[in-house]
Amino acid sequence: MTVGRAPGKVILFGEHAVVYGRPAIAVPIQQVSAEAEVTDWPEGAAGEVLIEAPDVESRVLLSRARQEDPLARIVRLTLAEVPTTGRQALRLVVRSSIPMASGLGSGAAVSVAVIRALSAHLGHPLLPERQSELAFEGEKLHHGTPSGIDNTVVTFNRPVYFRRGGTPQTLLIQRPFHLVIGDTGHPSPTSVAVGRVRDQWQASRPETEAIFDEIAEVVERARESIAGDPDQLGGLMDENQALLEQLGVSSPELDRLLAAARKAGAAGAKLSGAGLGGNMIAFTAAADMGAVASALHQAGAVGTIATEVAP
Ligand code: PMV
Repeated sequence: MTVGRAPGKVILFGEHAVVYGRPAIAVPIQQVSAEAEVTDWPEGAAGEVLIEAPDVESRVLLSRARQEDPLARIVRLTLAEVPTTGRQALRLVVRSSIPMASGLGSGAAVSVAVIRALSAHLGHPLLPERQSELAFEGEKLHHGTPSGIDNTVVTFNRPVYFRRGGTPQTLLIQRPFHLVIGDTGHPSPTSVAVGRVRDQWQASRPETEAIFDEIAEVVERARESIAGDPDQLGGLMDENQALLEQLGVSSPELDRLLAAARKAGAAGAKLSGAGLGGNMIAFTAAADMGAVASALHQAGAVGTIATEVAP
């Protein structure tokens, strides 16, 4: 049996604007992850792959899977990378503790876990750069015009400063800081939020570009703050959130959790990922994490994760 894993992620600053060429900052989240297991499957016909995802009660043969099936697509892309003539049948089982369509990078993490397990099982483990490229192809199925930040951060498993099409840079972190992540329990497909921002951009391009520029400035200040004095990050999260609200991607559930976190002592908070649901993050002193997490639960969060971002 061969196992592949990949972590979840949160975007600290810059989502949406990153699709339009501005920078963004994201960090991996180890408390949640995707895992893929590959075993030989002697009962199967040569070349076949049985793809199972028990979490979503899915069981499908690769030869019968729809072209647009995201798991099958990743399996096909990976198999195309490795010599497979006369290959025996395989069984692939995928599990994930990352909530789906919630801004925590579930799609990218599942793809990377599958690519790792499958290529290693077939004796041709792919380099991280290639893993990320293949996962990026999978991301296109989830939301048409991905920036590439999700597949990058989960593949390289380290905090990144990212710009579309550029080489991702490892983020310099001066000293640890803490986040509480809260899940609204409302899944929100990335494509819907990305589509909403696109509509706004098409309807009023100069105004929307100006918002993206302001977000880019916040990202730059956040990068400096992370490299020096992270205590600025709370205020910067609030600024980024206000700009995301102007893009129309917050939601009543997110707003409720953000208000609860701030009231319980978080220095600042914002949605994370595509928005319109999914998860939010709160910049919180270590001593206040428990209070912020319980306030989030009381305000309706279905799950919270307290985490440290460390050098
Ligand atoms: O997939 P999510 O929900 O984590 O969102 C990704 C961030 C976006 O900027 C909204 C889209 C992208 O491709 O960067």
